[in-house]
Amino acid sequence: QTEEEMENQKRTYQYFRHLVSTLPRVGGFKRPFYCYNGWYARLPSLVSAMVAREHFQAQPTDVLLATCPKSGTTWLKALLFATVNRSSHTNSHPPLATLSPHQCVPSLEFSVYVNDRIPDLDALSSPRLFGTHIPFQSLPASVIDAGCRIVYLYRDPKDCFISLWHFANKFRAKDNIELWTLDEFLEHFSNGISPFGPYWDHVLGYWNGHLERPQKVLFLKYEELMQHPEVHLKRLAEFVGCPFTEDEEKEGVVEGIIRLCSFENLSNLEVNKIGRSELAIGTVENSIFFRRGEVGDWVNHLTPEMARRLEEITESKFRGSGLSF
Ligand code: A3P
Repeated sequence: QTEEEMENQKRTYQYFRHLVSTLPRVGGFKRPFYCYNGWYARLPSLVSAMVAREHFQAQPTDVLLATCPKSGTTWLKALLFATVNRSSHTNSHPPLATLSPHQCVPSLEFSVYVNDRIPDLDALSSPRLFGTHIPFQSLPASVIDAGCRIVYLYRDPKDCFISLWHFANKFRAKDNIELWTLDEFLEHFSNGISPFGPYWDHVLGYWNGHLERPQKVLFLKYEELMQHPEVHLKRLAEFVGCPFTEDEEKEGVVEGIIRLCSFENLSNLEVNKIGRSELAIGTVENSIFFRRGEVGDWVNHLTPEMARRLEEITESKFRGSGLSF
């Protein structure tokens, strides 16, 4: 890149940083949330999302893995990467043994469009895989125009909420800030104020996208993936155009990928135990993406009233959509 190009890219980020600073913001947070196009995010991720929207040129063969934070992104990245690249990595050292799933499948707003850079992605081999938390209505237009595939994973909002609460408090502990109580955090989450939230609008946005173009937007549920991983991994492979052959099934390739990407296996790999990644939100330990990896951990944290509050919102928001929990 020439110095002039780098200067232009810097200016693009400066422009969006200024733009974001003029948006409505929610106070009371050390790092405020800004509201843009119906959703909330902190400044760095919102700026990156805006740069992605302006500069990401999707290709028809791209696969975009979309999630609301803490819905199982790390797991799905690993499954998708291992599935798509299975023929090139048949040896005993797959990339996932030494790279975190977030390095294998970079996030548009956390690792691609960061550090004042607009990288040239054309040289990446296809299918290119990217992760994103950007809500459906704010995706780069080329994602829809190019007709690339989107895999959306969602999760019980109660588990998502608990996972997010732990995640947010790990950052707070690191910064020596008083930890969120569950009550405070629930109040914000219920009012839609969470990263890339409201949670419910995020799910519904992609759900409507799926209803409009089911062949382009696949919907997966964390709990179902946990219960019947083979069934859903095969759906995923078919959807991205690399179905498992009969021979592969007989040889146990499907089970092998599920084992490789299991919480037990991934969370015990050195790269995920002690490795770190540079993301738009700062340097994070890869282990922060692995906590319990279970369905229903919310019962250990939420009072019945708290759970009811989230269930009632979910029920009223999802009513008539065909989505449920
Ligand atoms: P918990 O906090 O409930 O344990 P994301 O990847 O979207 O940030 O979501 C993180 C959640 O997915 C965490 O949930 C984490 O433990 C869980 N997770 C990470 N890897 C997983 C895996 N391989 N299988 C199942 N769950 C996983």
